[in-house]
Amino acid sequence: MNDRILNTPIKLGHHTLNNRVVLPPLTRQRSAQPGDIATELMAEYYRQRAGAGFMVSEGTQIEPRGQGYAWTPGIYAPAQIDGWRKVTDAVHAEGGVIFAQLWHVGRVSHNALQPGGAAPVAPSALQALQAKAFIETAPGAGALMQPPVPRALAALEIEELVGFYAQAARNALDAGFDGVEIHAANGYLVNQFISAHSNNRDDEYGGSLDNRLRFLREIVEAVCKVVGPERLGVRFSPLFSGTDEDRVYIGLVEEDPHHTYIEAIKVLEASGIAYVSIAEADWDNAPVLPDSFREAVRSTFNGRIIYAGGYTAERGAKLVEAGLADLIAFGRPFIANPDLPQRLFNGWPLNPLREEGMYGGGEVGYTDYPAYARP
Ligand SMILES: Cc1cc2nc3c(=O)[nH]c(=O)nc-3n(C[C@H](O)[C@H](O)[C@H](O)COP(=O)(O)O)c2cc1C
Repeated sequence: MNDRILNTPIKLGHHTLNNRVVLPPLTRQRSAQPGDIATELMAEYYRQRAGAGFMVSEGTQIEPRGQGYAWTPGIYAPAQIDGWRKVTDAVHAEGGVIFAQLWHVGRVSHNALQPGGAAPVAPSALQALQAKAFIETAPGAGALMQPPVPRALAALEIEELVGFYAQAARNALDAGFDGVEIHAANGYLVNQFISAHSNNRDDEYGGSLDNRLRFLREIVEAVCKVVGPERLGVRFSPLFSGTDEDRVYIGLVEEDPHHTYIEAIKVLEASGIAYVSIAEADWDNAPVLPDSFREAVRSTFNGRIIYAGGYTAERGAKLVEAGLADLIAFGRPFIANPDLPQRLFNGWPLNPLREEGMYGGGEVGYTDYPAYARP
């Protein structure tokens, strides 16, 4: 089978991973309320999936203003750190390796989620017109909402935010995570700084691409000081061509995505971090990532490279064999198949994904997907 290459070990930072199948960050909105605290049920969900060579937690907000969806877990309060420890203990007991995805949604939020009902914060007062926030309307029930016009951050507040990332990284280590991934993808705060579409600042954080990459650079440097480069990864979502609808899907219009993201990856290379994770467009008929971009990522970056977005074992193995990827992440297939690596390695059939319980709820659609049973 040509996808055997996914079942080979690889080094990532301090770790030798058992295989190249990754559980990517997947928001499932099941934290305990009030307090946005990771639970025993979440620990069970991650334990079931610890056969992955490498795991990244669902996005976890680094401060209260960083939340854009009800019930996502935080990593800034002591009780939240204790909650995450249940998850990391469960994963480690199964021999897994797990990083925490550090998340700040920036403008993709709503007053109902913000301290004091304030406007969300962002690089500029430019509204996210295509993205939706999710607020609680009654215990266990909620609604998608249009994010309001955000408030532009003052330069001193940006400095403070960099400190929040560093503190969240410290908290992640305290919680037992093996490292952290900075969420710089999908139209959230770091991405909002990178994209001229959402950043029209006229100070040192806006204007030139070098300035728009400053926030990322400062976060990477600050977090590196806390965890070391071996325990750090960054996730991007470069979007190439596609229809107008695709391009504004997450509010990210890059005039030259190749140039923007190769320059961003140079920032990572300068710090020698462990990996870059590329989230590809994953909707039907989505624009594809050009091979020329993948080749440029490989020649720019010496760490590990992870791709996600509509992969099958076969497509992923091809990319690894071609030398363009080191690890392949499977999102929706991993939601539906707790033993996904074994199924892929043995050619066993996959459980179909169910819509029920994708975002929020209890065990249904979360921990109730069965492992493969031989007929
Ligand atoms: C339910 C769900 C939640 C997600 N949450 C996150 C998240 O918290 N952080 C992130 O970077 N990507 C998130 N993603 C994107 C996935 O990590 C992945 O890139 C995407 O699902 C494409 O892979 P797939 O086609 O194998 O599902 C999410 C995707 C899904 C379906």
